[in-house]
Amino acid sequence: MAIRVGIVGCGYIAQDTYLPVLAEIGADRVKVVAAFDTAQERVDVALDTFPEASGYTAYDAFLAHQGGLDLVFNLTPAPLHREITARALEAGCHVYSEKPIAATLQEATELTAITRENGLSLFVAPSTITTARMLSIKDRMENGDFGHVHTIRAHIGGMGPAIWRTYSGDPMVFYREGVGPMVDLGVYMLHTITGLFGPATRVQAIGGIVYPERTILIERMYGEKITVEAPDVLSVNLTFEGRRFAHLFTSYAVPASKAPFFELYGTMGAASIAGRQWYDGNSTTDFYFRDESASGKSEGWQEDVATPNPLPIGGILESGILHAVDALENGTPNALTPEHATHVLEIMNGAVASAESGRPVDLTTTF
Ligand SMILES: NC(=O)c1ccc[n+]([C@@H]2O[C@H](COP(=O)([O-])OP(=O)(O)OC[C@H]3O[C@@H](n4cnc5c(N)ncnc54)[C@H](O)[C@@H]3O)[C@@H](O)[C@H]2O)c1
Repeated sequence: MAIRVGIVGCGYIAQDTYLPVLAEIGADRVKVVAAFDTAQERVDVALDTFPEASGYTAYDAFLAHQGGLDLVFNLTPAPLHREITARALEAGCHVYSEKPIAATLQEATELTAITRENGLSLFVAPSTITTARMLSIKDRMENGDFGHVHTIRAHIGGMGPAIWRTYSGDPMVFYREGVGPMVDLGVYMLHTITGLFGPATRVQAIGGIVYPERTILIERMYGEKITVEAPDVLSVNLTFEGRRFAHLFTSYAVPASKAPFFELYGTMGAASIAGRQWYDGNSTTDFYFRDESASGKSEGWQEDVATPNPLPIGGILESGILHAVDALENGTPNALTPEHATHVLEIMNGAVASAESGRPVDLTTTF
């Protein structure tokens, strides 16, 4: 029987990615039966894709959907994630939540407890580690292709949604306390870094607010101002067990950059992923392998190496949707666990606290 899906939050990312991907997976595997948004016009857009689904503008009515819901996608703005997820879990539904899992460690820990107590699955985006590329890089690491991988360097930034001229969502929320580039963008890299290295032990960061005020360039709000509450530049250092380190630069103050998004360095090789390669998890990666033989002839770059075992739909967000559907269909383990998302939340909050205090923060959670 197909998994009965409910969508909460029918905004930009629902329309751009989740609804089309669920349609592509097919009604024999996932059937979108209910859609909820506080704005009726957004519900109507979801029903254009899934005309047989029921539309709701009240959460109680959505959760009581006649015929039941197996899996709820929480695609609301970040500050609402905890509440929406908790209520869906309490109603007995598996949940797939956009990032972050919640705002505080306590909230995230409570969500994990509700999930476990009810024997449910909580999948938390971002799903970088379920992309074909990261699965293959992890295989290469375990195979020793790079020697001892000791450092990951990640860079992800832009100017934020205030200047995305065609953005249909609410840009203001992205600049609020507890969101910012760390929760919007850095989170992708932190899930990837910890997905490859395991839990970090310490975070130390510098950063702050470069633009105290933003001017919106989106046509329907052009010229409106946003007061910035979250750091828009953050440079974060992480320490791991086993002589491993990572650095993340994330920002909403980068007009443009040619820096690779992601690089890892091992004693015998390196991997590098450029911006043009990053968002498609089936796309290529550049590798460098050292050669310590007398001739040294195989030392050098291998550019644009194809990723083995590509997924049927390649994007980063898409890989998580496929993963959750597979896990629920087959009872296979959840790789997008709330414990992992909780650890990343602790790093994100720790980084902001460290940038404010000037002191490192020791991390307590693990996964
Ligand atoms: N925009 C992107 O490129 C992108 C990419 C990846 C992940 N995300 C994440 O997806 C989430 C949503 O982002 P978005 O860009 O789609 O935002 P959005 O503002 O376009 O959509 C959010 C939707 O939630 C609805 N909503 C607000 N309050 C609600 C409530 N109480 N109950 C139900 N619905 C409510 C809004 O009406 C809106 O339709 C965020 O967590 C964001 O970080 C966004």
